[in-house]
Amino acid sequence: MLLEVEGLTVEVEGKRIIEGVDMHVERGEAYVMFGPNGSGKTSLVNTIMGLPEYDVTSGKIIFDGVDVTGKTIDERAKLGMRLAFQLPPEIVGVKLRDVLKICAGLKQNDELQKEHLGLVEKLRLTDFLDRDINLGFSGGERKRAEALQMLLMRPKLLLLDEPDSGVDAESLKLIGMMIQEYLEESGSSALIITHQGAILDYIKAAKSCVFMEKIIYCHSSPKEIIQSIQERGYEYCRECHERIPDE
Ligand SMILES: Nc1ncnc2c1ncn2[C@@H]1O[C@H](COP(=O)(O)OP(=O)(O)O)[C@@H](O)[C@H]1O
Ligand SMILES: [Mg+2]
Repeated sequence: MLLEVEGLTVEVEGKRIIEGVDMHVERGEAYVMFGPNGSGKTSLVNTIMGLPEYDVTSGKIIFDGVDVTGKTIDERAKLGMRLAFQLPPEIVGVKLRDVLKICAGLKQNDELQKEHLGLVEKLRLTDFLDRDINLGFSGGERKRAEALQMLLMRPKLLLLDEPDSGVDAESLKLIGMMIQEYLEESGSSALIITHQGAILDYIKAAKSCVFMEKIIYCHSSPKEIIQSIQERGYEYCRECHERIPDE
């Protein structure tokens, strides 16, 4: 097991936003999480990554055999976890090239190598290297830049928060195919949050759940969940929750 979340309860500014969640991601697995807006999906991945505003009031997060619940973001990153933000922020004064060097483990005086530039080229970001990160980037460009940074870090666990939102079809295909290629080649795992499952045209995933009202509601294949929600709405999840416990 690569990631184990046990009985996780989280508060932000004294407000409870996640309630006793249990979930896990196996090695080499892409695990999908659906759920309506405001249910707590972003908060869950932010907490897994260790963003400081999320207070874990009970439960724990085990990553690659290590209890990371009290660890900082950079400690978790060094252990091999990386989060691609739902809304990647603009950072004025920091060039994409310099962040990519850090992601690739290079020093500031080093140059990006051929293999790094190959990825930059594939994600069609060569013209963006000397621009401030995400500043004036379109939705698709931001998500491509986010995917690029992630891939250069070669994480064991990719936390992908809506990699398919606000992205044009061509960027979606590029991002999806490159992530799938990386997962296959590295044996890494992914936790993917998506609304419609668009990214799943490219990333192979067998297991999924619905995160709703601070907890996890059902466990099934992405195909079945998408179809059921389309046909019966999120009410389907409530019935499913009563029916099937985890595995
Ligand atoms: N930093 C924060 N400060 C205050 N409230 C927050 C913060 N982060 C999340 N929340 C609240 O937690 C709830 C879940 O939000 P979020 O995790 O973004 O949901 P989702 O990603 O499923 O749309 C929302 O009510 C949101 O307003
Ligand atoms: Mg979100």
